[in-house]
Amino acid sequence: MPKTITLPPYLSARSADDTVAVCGLLLEGGGAVLVDASRLKFADPFGLAMLGATFQMLRDVERTVQVCGLGAAAAGYLGRMDVFEGVERVDCGPPANQRHNRGDSLVELTRLDTPQEVDQAAYRLAHALVGHLPGIDPDEPPDEMSGYTTFDRLVEPIQYALSELLENALTHARGHGFAHASVWVASQHYPSSGIIRLGVVDNGCGILASLRGHPELKHERHLEAILAALQPRVSCNRDLRLNLESVNQGVGLTTTCRIAEHAGGRLVIVSGDARHDTAGKSGELAGHAYWQGTAIALECRRVGLPDIRYRELLPAYEGQYRPGLRFE
Ligand SMILES: Nc1ncnc2c1ncn2[C@@H]1O[C@H](COP(=O)(O)OP(=O)(O)O)[C@@H](O)[C@H]1O
Ligand SMILES: [Mg+2]
Repeated sequence: MPKTITLPPYLSARSADDTVAVCGLLLEGGGAVLVDASRLKFADPFGLAMLGATFQMLRDVERTVQVCGLGAAAAGYLGRMDVFEGVERVDCGPPANQRHNRGDSLVELTRLDTPQEVDQAAYRLAHALVGHLPGIDPDEPPDEMSGYTTFDRLVEPIQYALSELLENALTHARGHGFAHASVWVASQHYPSSGIIRLGVVDNGCGILASLRGHPELKHERHLEAILAALQPRVSCNRDLRLNLESVNQGVGLTTTCRIAEHAGGRLVIVSGDARHDTAGKSGELAGHAYWQGTAIALECRRVGLPDIRYRELLPAYEGQYRPGLRFE
């Protein structure tokens, strides 16, 4: 008999604690698992990336996963998102057959295994997401003054955020004995609220292991490590001054967070036993939930994105002239 695990109603960044807890239950122990999805009402890209990562990790250790009780709408949606690759569905709604004919702009769950894939994936995912936004024409002529199209302006901050988060997940997360870690990413635009959501989940060493021993880390706790990582110029790469040309300048997470906040949004970062929500509650995950790795949700308002120049949000180097922020 497989053990049965029931999914909560919400698999999302806003219910990060429940999402991490159920993924932990799925990964615990051994043998086959039956996932009861009858209570599931809503999953966002964070929840999808968490569930997709968990299912793939179970498959990697040859544990059988069956899903039952999914309603037709959720089955179609999650199926389109490729969450169920290799997962057997029993007693669920029919699989989606109109994969490319969808009103919502969602980008399928994608797994990356090597840092060489990052640039292309960030480019492809950002363009796919923005290309699906209603009212955006990728072929619109560029603005005469700036040379940019609206499409370019929406793509740029999303592409930056994705490449920073994916790069972190395929470099830092692979230290300390986690050389085989992967990263899962999903994204979606919600037309009725105008919100864009990204979910980036890795199963690597976690932020605390990466920053252990860093002078900015006063206590060896997951939450402190997340807060330290968000500070400008805090990096596990200790030779920042020697390495001015390096991409690892300790500003990737800081700038990604600034992008989300300037576009009226937030980051939710889960690593180990902690959750930090830049616009909400931070602390230990409820019920002793734990994620081995780092899981990040970015949420922002689409209308805020075209005004963002991410280069102006980059923290200045010490002693460097910093132009004033411009929000035209
Ligand atoms: N996915 C991750 N897994 C483990 N550690 C991470 C992850 N993302 C960020 N970190 C930690 O947070 C630090 C700060 O990240 P970031 O601001 O992107 O700077 P940088 O990548 O230049 O070091 C990293 O140096 C690393 O120690
Ligand atoms: Mg980085």
